[in-house]
Amino acid sequence: MTRILAVSGSLRADSYNTSLLRAASEAAPEGVDVELFEPSGIADLPLYDQDLELAGAPELVTRLREAWGSADAILFATPEYNGSVPGGLKNAIDWASRPIRESALTGKTVAIAGASTGQFGAMWAQADLRKILGTAGARVAGDELPVTRAHERFDESGRLLDAELFERLRLHLETLAAHTVAAAVPA
Ligand SMILES: Cc1cc2nc3c(=O)[nH]c(=O)nc-3n(C[C@H](O)[C@H](O)[C@H](O)COP(=O)(O)O)c2cc1C
Repeated sequence: MTRILAVSGSLRADSYNTSLLRAASEAAPEGVDVELFEPSGIADLPLYDQDLELAGAPELVTRLREAWGSADAILFATPEYNGSVPGGLKNAIDWASRPIRESALTGKTVAIAGASTGQFGAMWAQADLRKILGTAGARVAGDELPVTRAHERFDESGRLLDAELFERLRLHLETLAAHTVAAAVPA
């Protein structure tokens, strides 16, 4: 079983990105389990501060690192705020990226997706997320998964209405799982 942790970059209760990740847990192919990382795990983190870190990482940071570090792989879904990732998500990644070279993200296989209400499906945010995660030492598997006009693709309870997108999600998870398994095989 490949255990994928699903991390939403949105803290909004009715977030399309979080809804997308809930749909991903239904779209997961056989042998893949998708578990949602609680948005509070990002919302309640202090702002990254190296002094705070050196004084001993706060408990929420330790929990974040354990959850991200113990997952086989991570699927991120990010909104786009002013052309990039939300600050809260960047902050969580900054915390998770330390200590450098032995962090929860070092060598971690990850994939990215993004939903926005606009025409471009958070493509700039996803491009930045790819760069940020790569810099932190993660291996980003597959392409972006842009979800455009997100408000038209979910019903009021956040259920995905788009069968084609459901299939794209399944393929995205298949790619992520294949990269995860390949990365686990000793060279
Ligand atoms: C501060 C802010 C900035 C935004 N900037 C962009 C943007 O640059 N590009 C875009 O496509 N949508 C932008 N949006 C719209 C978001 O895509 C939309 O609010 C989306 O639903 C957020 O994702 P969520 O539903 O997961 O919270 C912005 C929204 C906010 C609140």
